[in-house]
Amino acid sequence: MALPLTMDQILCMNGGEGKASYAQNSFVQKQVMSMAKPVLQETLRELYLDSFPECLKLADLGCSSSPNTLLLLREIIDYIDVTREQLNKKEPIFQMFLNDLFHNDFNNIFKLIPSFYKELRREKGGDFGPCFIVAMPGNFYGRLFPDHSLHFIHSSYSVHWRSQVPANLVSELGSPLNKGHICLARTSPRSVHEAYLDLFKMDMTLFLKSRSEELVPGGRMMFTMIGRDASVNLLEDQVSNIWELLGMTISNMVKEGLIEEEKLDNCNMPCYLPTPEEVRKVIQEEGSFHITRFETFIVSWDAEMGDGDLRARGKYEAASMRAIAEPILAVHFGEEVMDDLFERFARKVSRYMELHKGEYLNILVSVKNR
Ligand SMILES: C[S@@+](CC[C@H](N)C(=O)[O-])C[C@H]1O[C@@H](n2cnc3c(N)ncnc32)[C@H](O)[C@@H]1O
Repeated sequence: MALPLTMDQILCMNGGEGKASYAQNSFVQKQVMSMAKPVLQETLRELYLDSFPECLKLADLGCSSSPNTLLLLREIIDYIDVTREQLNKKEPIFQMFLNDLFHNDFNNIFKLIPSFYKELRREKGGDFGPCFIVAMPGNFYGRLFPDHSLHFIHSSYSVHWRSQVPANLVSELGSPLNKGHICLARTSPRSVHEAYLDLFKMDMTLFLKSRSEELVPGGRMMFTMIGRDASVNLLEDQVSNIWELLGMTISNMVKEGLIEEEKLDNCNMPCYLPTPEEVRKVIQEEGSFHITRFETFIVSWDAEMGDGDLRARGKYEAASMRAIAEPILAVHFGEEVMDDLFERFARKVSRYMELHKGEYLNILVSVKNR
């Protein structure tokens, strides 16, 4: 039996700046960050007032390859700048670590750094900061930084990714347990749910422990992830998440003989969308952090970019999912079916949104290191 693949081997978003890139298709994530801004500001204010560090050391975990991560850094700098001015304090030096897995297209961000620095100097004056941007490739399910070396850790839309595909998604006889799906779907058997939930708890415990060791005492962390609302009673034709709809599109291609059934049955995404209660519980049980904010909010699948035209909205959402899922799906199903798959998926999303709302439930958590 093949060993389960780890995330370092399979996960990355579509790199570069082309039509299918994550850089061109990450507006939903940008909108999520903008909705999380008040909590970001509150967290930074409390952190800064607690400690006034001379050099503020920050990290964005799962920064990916779009301008979103530099936008975040700019928001942090601007907010700290306003706060320290109000308090008549000298501006701190900023050091920002950009983390993602080894296959991430870091170069795409590096190319944007000169204009980022230039803009900062132009707007804030020559001797501002300075601000140093550093890359830290590696798996955030484990240690990335030395002990007590960071003041603030941020992560957006990354920790719903698991460290691997759960190892036990096959029966004792070797048959696939999550047949016909690529993620935890509403009709997946209980054993599949348990396998994903166990992995989620294990991953998040390690994530929290590692971050707690890396943060200074009293250091802050804020993360936003996609979750699910288990209390909603779904209608017969509703899906519990967008991956399920993508899985249905693949299943239709299997029925038409365009994709082998075995490939679908053995494809499971390393992704789990927890309930808010599951997230809260894992933080409390791990015990390193005190929760200072815990919120949920909704964002539409297409971030309402499609100006009401359902066809355009379906296309928009399909492009956004393609930027995220294509590298993994191409490994499973082959490059050659990707165009067809995402064209069909765009139509499926449009039809779905005729009848139902397509929404992400976001879980936003801000914590303080004990
Ligand atoms: C959807 S992107 C979000 C990017 C960015 N934070 C944003 O909001 O635009 C998720 C990123 O998390 C990264 N990621 C997932 N699991 C990871 C892990 N274990 N360690 C480091 N990065 C990881 C992925 O490679 C991907 O680039």
